[in-house]
Amino acid sequence: MGAIDYQTLIPNNVNLADDRRLQRALGRWQPNYLEWWNEMGPDGFQTKDIYLRTAISADRQGWAHFDYVRMPEYRWGIFLAEPDPNRKIHFGDHMGQDVWQTVPGEYRNVLRRVIVTQGDTEPASVEQQRQLGNTAPSLYDLRNLFQVNVEEGRHLWAMVYLLHSYFGREGRDEAEELLCRRSGDEDKPRILDAFNQPCDDWLSFFCFTMFADRDGKYQLASLAESAFDPLARTCRFMLTEEAHHLFVGDKGMERIIRRSAELTRLDPNGEARNQGGIDLPTIQRFINFWFSYCLDLFGSEISTNAADYFGHSLKGRFQEARRYDEHTALNQFKTFTVASAGKLTTEEAPLRNAMNEVLRDDYISDCQTAVRRWNKAIKKIGVDFEMALPNRRFHRRQGLYAEQNFDLEGNPITEAEFEANRDVWLRTDADLAYVRTLMKPCHEKGKIANWIAPPRNGVDGKPFEFEYVRLV
Ligand SMILES: [Fe+2]
Ligand SMILES: [Fe+2]
Repeated sequence: MGAIDYQTLIPNNVNLADDRRLQRALGRWQPNYLEWWNEMGPDGFQTKDIYLRTAISADRQGWAHFDYVRMPEYRWGIFLAEPDPNRKIHFGDHMGQDVWQTVPGEYRNVLRRVIVTQGDTEPASVEQQRQLGNTAPSLYDLRNLFQVNVEEGRHLWAMVYLLHSYFGREGRDEAEELLCRRSGDEDKPRILDAFNQPCDDWLSFFCFTMFADRDGKYQLASLAESAFDPLARTCRFMLTEEAHHLFVGDKGMERIIRRSAELTRLDPNGEARNQGGIDLPTIQRFINFWFSYCLDLFGSEISTNAADYFGHSLKGRFQEARRYDEHTALNQFKTFTVASAGKLTTEEAPLRNAMNEVLRDDYISDCQTAVRRWNKAIKKIGVDFEMALPNRRFHRRQGLYAEQNFDLEGNPITEAEFEANRDVWLRTDADLAYVRTLMKPCHEKGKIANWIAPPRNGVDGKPFEFEYVRLV
């Protein structure tokens, strides 16, 4: 083990070469990680050259390097955003104090749980997506899938670095556990429900990267405000990579929607399915499904945990420093819409307790922006259809609205009414079966499957026709 060159094996900006303790911990973990990758990472393609981006520094200008690489040889590195030596805690009860470079004893458990919960989503999504390579609609999409997968792998490394460096033995145990849980497994499932849902068609993949990775963006952004500086800096750098995942989801959805609109126009009866496409109402039902699942990821609307995270300066609001003037969130309230006896009324909760909902608000308006863009694309093609996000109360399984039924606009309805409309509102088994019939690989250079439009640009200045994956 002593001969391993960590600078080469694990690119990093955390002085790994001088940290024997961390080297030992990672030296033990890394083979298990690779074993997990080979067993649960992308099915097939592991010996192929993929044109991938690798993080090589935390420098804003030139942080990534593009080249062909085989996935098991990807250099998963550890990068934290550059430190700010003058950084002070800027929200919550510890406001004004120096940020923490070690974990305060009283927050050890809660911080560990936050890091493990975030860390668990990273390998989970790789597992959910492991079959998708076999049905990619183009080499460009195949490459993007693998880019997302290796970077989710790196995000796992990022969280494991924190566990190993700051949480001692318990941290090392948690790092092992992260490789033992499996998405969708009955006995050892992943921690969050949306990460146990199968994601084995490309419409689901784009919904997932659009809505679930975007939840990730908001969680990471709120942790990037944290008083625990290594966590803040780790998350800040992860956001750099995450932007591409969101791009893949947003543009993937837009390309399917555009193609669906084109095929709808092309068909004499306006039926995209007759033309081998996915019809717009089916896409809407997938959106309703994934969006509502992903809203649950933010946690309960009114939550003492959320109040503690904010109060203890562990988790801020989205862009807490930049967008707010007042950072204690004390003596303020947030209004909620609640349903009682079939009617909507409002209630108030202390702002700190409403922090999950505050983050959810920002997420929803971010999603809304994308949907508006998709609708412009449909309109431009001349089809009369508008996509919409369901109301936040629709089809929730956690929080304030979980025990009640709501329609797409958020009006209270009976369970019978919900069930009568379930197949109109949410993707059905028949929808899934149909979409799966379209999932055939299109792995020829410059070609693309019929149900999706090609991207407007390629990757790294290359054209769409570029050989993003060398299959021979
Ligand atoms: Fe991630
Ligand atoms: Fe991601």
